[in-house]
Amino acid sequence: MGIDSTREGVEMVNDWFERAQRVIPGGVNSPVRSFRSVGGTPVFVKRGEGSRIFTEDGRELIDCCQSWGALLFGHAHPVIVEAVQEALAQGTSFGVATAREVEFAEMLCCLIPGMEQVRAVNSGTEAVMTAIRLARGATGRNLILKFDGCYHGHSDAMLVKAGSGLLSGAERSSAGVPAATAADTMVVPYNDLAAGEAVLQDRGDQMAAIIVEPVAANMGLVPPQPGFLAGLRSLADQHGCLLIFDEVITGFRFGPTTYGNLCGVEPDLTCLGKIIGGGLPLAAVGGRRAVMELLAPCGPVYQAGTLSGNPLAVSAGLAMLRLLADASVYAQLDARGAQLASALQGAPFCLQRMGGAFTPFFAGVAPQNLADVKASNTARYARLFQHALAQGVYLPPSPFETAFLSAAHSEDDIARIADTLKDCIGIAKQQPS
Ligand SMILES: Cc1ncc(COP(=O)(O)O)c(C=O)c1O
Repeated sequence: MGIDSTREGVEMVNDWFERAQRVIPGGVNSPVRSFRSVGGTPVFVKRGEGSRIFTEDGRELIDCCQSWGALLFGHAHPVIVEAVQEALAQGTSFGVATAREVEFAEMLCCLIPGMEQVRAVNSGTEAVMTAIRLARGATGRNLILKFDGCYHGHSDAMLVKAGSGLLSGAERSSAGVPAATAADTMVVPYNDLAAGEAVLQDRGDQMAAIIVEPVAANMGLVPPQPGFLAGLRSLADQHGCLLIFDEVITGFRFGPTTYGNLCGVEPDLTCLGKIIGGGLPLAAVGGRRAVMELLAPCGPVYQAGTLSGNPLAVSAGLAMLRLLADASVYAQLDARGAQLASALQGAPFCLQRMGGAFTPFFAGVAPQNLADVKASNTARYARLFQHALAQGVYLPPSPFETAFLSAAHSEDDIARIADTLKDCIGIAKQQPS
């Protein structure tokens, strides 16, 4: 455990990053991996096992990122590995219907009451894109209401942020997004039901959908305020638009179902990703039959994919969902999260936590929206990240991301994480009793 500071190790990591930067933009295949918001050189992972990742330069790290929440049971869980190996030997892609896809859809519909049909896609971005097109097709309207700080993948309509006025369209958050596309997305602060209501009062007759992360996890972890999600449900009903829960992170994260189901608010469409693929590229959009059957080939809303329902991905997803038959994993994740929170009491950050998901915000009070998150001390998070990394603990390389524990994290791992963080922030390490 710990850093391998041999000359060879140091040269190796520089070498990989240098090579990567020559042939991959920024050296990474997804921007946040670049460490730009925390500084330093990205790690290059060679393999993972349980709670650990092992880097190309010989370091062993306790992984609190878990593929951005895609893993619930840790790395290379033997049941998932075996399922993929078995599927692999039978063929990697058919582009033809398979029994496994049916079993996978049946399993999701069984675990998520209210979900009558589901379509598999390859990424969360695709799931959201499809949900939005479905909402527009179902309502014949164009506008979408989203919440600042919620991330819904990188489709044009979702790469927007709050503009100067709540009642005007959003500002583009990426070059290349047409202004006309951004103008069709309205953005209001998370947890601000009144702001959402004001937009709907003004333009409710043009609104196709309200989309929200039911627990925001892409500005760090920001839970919904009591009544927020139920209020959105009422607003959607009042104005005849669809409510979309983007559960790419929250689906199966806090219980063996969606967060919507756990909190008793039923959206019209649910986007799933990450955990349901067991670490393979698999995502899905699902809802009531009446809406889902608007999708081609039943209905006029087009959506397709060569690798959709890919046999390897679906096999991993099925194995993953079957592991949840032992729902005790959620009690265990919560216990580990609680252990961490208790060990970190008195820390100069506000540890926002739900189950095994957490964010240490260097802020006086728990953030409720993006403005609060941005007011937190992100430079201190960057120092915490660097210190933890040097001590063998891998936190998300951004103050705006959520950390995830897995079922593979042991009590000892948690104690080690807590000691490392305490070390950095100067709280006395707990003495063994
Ligand atoms: C809530 C949410 N929606 C959508 C996405 C996009 O998913 P993907 O990265 O699989 O395209 C993400 C990714 O982090 C996400 O967290």
